[in-house]
Amino acid sequence: MCVLVGTCGYSSDRDEGTSVLPFDGISLGCDYNPEQWPRSVWPEDVALMQEAGVGFVTLGVFSWGLLEPRPGEFDFGWFDEVVGLLHEGGIAIDMATATAAPPPWLTHRHPEVLPVDREGRTLWPGSRQSFIPSSPVFREYALRLVEQMAQRYGSHPAVRMWHVSNELGCHIGKDWSDVSAAAFRVWLADRYGDVDALNEAWGTAFWSQHYTSFDEVLPPRITPAVPNPTQELDFARFSSDAWLDHYRAERDVLRRHSPGVPVTTNFMVADHQYEQDYFGWGPEMDVVSQDHYLDHRHAHPHAEQSFAADLTRGTAGGRPWLLMESATSAVNWQPVNITKLPGELLVDSLRQVARGADGIGFFQWRASKAGGEKFHSALVPHAGRDSARFREVVGLGAALAAIGEVAGEPVRADVALLHDWESHWACDLDSHPSGELRALDAAHRWHRALTELGATADVVHPESDLSAYRLVVVPTLYLCSDRVAPALEAFAAAGGTVLVTYFSGIVDGHDHVRLGGYPGAFRDLLGVRAEEFTPLPVGATVTLDDGGTADLWTEVLGVTDAEVVARYADGPLPGTPAVTRRAVSAGSAWYVATRLDHAATTALADRLTRDAGVARLDEPQEGVEVVRRGHFLFVLNRGERPVTVPATGTELLGGGAVTGSVTVAPASAAVVRGGR
Ligand code: GAL
Repeated sequence: MCVLVGTCGYSSDRDEGTSVLPFDGISLGCDYNPEQWPRSVWPEDVALMQEAGVGFVTLGVFSWGLLEPRPGEFDFGWFDEVVGLLHEGGIAIDMATATAAPPPWLTHRHPEVLPVDREGRTLWPGSRQSFIPSSPVFREYALRLVEQMAQRYGSHPAVRMWHVSNELGCHIGKDWSDVSAAAFRVWLADRYGDVDALNEAWGTAFWSQHYTSFDEVLPPRITPAVPNPTQELDFARFSSDAWLDHYRAERDVLRRHSPGVPVTTNFMVADHQYEQDYFGWGPEMDVVSQDHYLDHRHAHPHAEQSFAADLTRGTAGGRPWLLMESATSAVNWQPVNITKLPGELLVDSLRQVARGADGIGFFQWRASKAGGEKFHSALVPHAGRDSARFREVVGLGAALAAIGEVAGEPVRADVALLHDWESHWACDLDSHPSGELRALDAAHRWHRALTELGATADVVHPESDLSAYRLVVVPTLYLCSDRVAPALEAFAAAGGTVLVTYFSGIVDGHDHVRLGGYPGAFRDLLGVRAEEFTPLPVGATVTLDDGGTADLWTEVLGVTDAEVVARYADGPLPGTPAVTRRAVSAGSAWYVATRLDHAATTALADRLTRDAGVARLDEPQEGVEVVRRGHFLFVLNRGERPVTVPATGTELLGGGAVTGSVTVAPASAAVVRGGR
């Protein structure tokens, strides 16, 4: 039997939350692309939406070509009709600005708005999102359309939110054209002031890269040998800022004409789209929203989904957020597109609600019959209303309606897992000790182990306030500022537990190595010093003297002020420290200098969470996730057997009164008000 231990994150005496979303309860929603269907289908769409319990739709994302069929000539008649039908049907609108896909007349007239890849190839029209965010020409056309949209619909009662463009940076996170090169130079001049400061930051004494003027600087295009890493890092920063700048430009037009209506754009937090620094974007949003599709190229797609949800909450400063897009079943863009089995849609959706989503949206309402996404799932499949998928969607709508009171409730976690896009970009550049090391890998592994133990983690920026946590995990934080280590020291001194993993604290913000021994910034905090890295060949493993197994990475590590918890029993460094612990006043700082396998990661996470008093399951069970959100306990069972978890209160999905424990069938979930 499981019991929840620890108290910090699970207290029930906190204030009732209020949703930040402009929709009611936990809303069901979807992208609606009516232009793909004859007018006669639209009334049926609205009727079916009502049947499914759809509360909001995102309208107009890819409608530019039909809203402005010729330059400066707008046709809103058909769109007015759709808006009217939705309004009469009681469906709220998340109105897109329609700028995500420029029409052919624009790119034909102005081919200079087309993006260029690293190899110098133009990305031609015929698809979508073929534009450069820094292009003044594109900006002018886009803002003219936004102005029209905002003036026409800005005070329409059905329009509850604005949706800028779509997934800014999707497909074209970076652009290497001359247009972006010019904008990059402006960005660099602003960052460094003069070119000497850039030379210093970029370490241009290396390989004769010294610049005499910003005019000589280019984006990191294809080069004969490894490009300058700080140039790469700054270009990644610039590119994220360029997209954010475009967001701001559209948002400001919306705010002028549609005051009071919240504005969002949908983040892409999943790890295959890792090009925006969303910690910087979050504060610019009235509502944070993300798109997330289960990615079956991952060994553990559901664990990645949980991580992305916790990270989205981090970008929202802990506030509730909106899952703008997900899939009712398969997508169309993975090598093999896996269909959701019965029950999965509900459990996957509630996983997002448990982790802070106040609305669950999907791409898209009706499965397209033409175009590149015709085999992508939808709320209404090709088979139509009379289908198991649509019935499951109706069931989901009912389930979300039943848990509406969860909206606004805070997820509180005892664990912080530190995450930084800049660090990950720098860590994953070329010519490092091991090309097999990926920054996100350690974050995913530790997050998954914690999730399986029933411990919820906030995924937050390294310079966040850590005082509310009991345990802070620092997975492969390769790059960090000088402020991070002292903050962790203070956290540990106040009784907290810190765990840092390999290849952390190595460089400063310019990607310059911190000298004197690894792990640079964290040497004193951890009481260790490594003189060399000893990465392992692919497939090689090492055994630790506590029985654990590890791979990928080892270091020639010495302790200066720490106890050795585990040593290598074999491999290149037998007898040397692999896991250490430094006592810091009432707290402790642990270092894991290798990549532990899942069993060893879980064993260490088990020990640390118990010692630190983190709220978690006492006896974890396979496939079960338990998350406390405010007054509600979510129990998600992805496993093959029923599970029983201690709880007392009222189960909201039809289970009624719960006394002592709740049993959840496989591929199902329970939401208990009151919880324990
Ligand atoms: C998203 C995009 C949608 C749709 C979806 C398919 O990235 O915003 O428009 O293409 O992917 O999974």
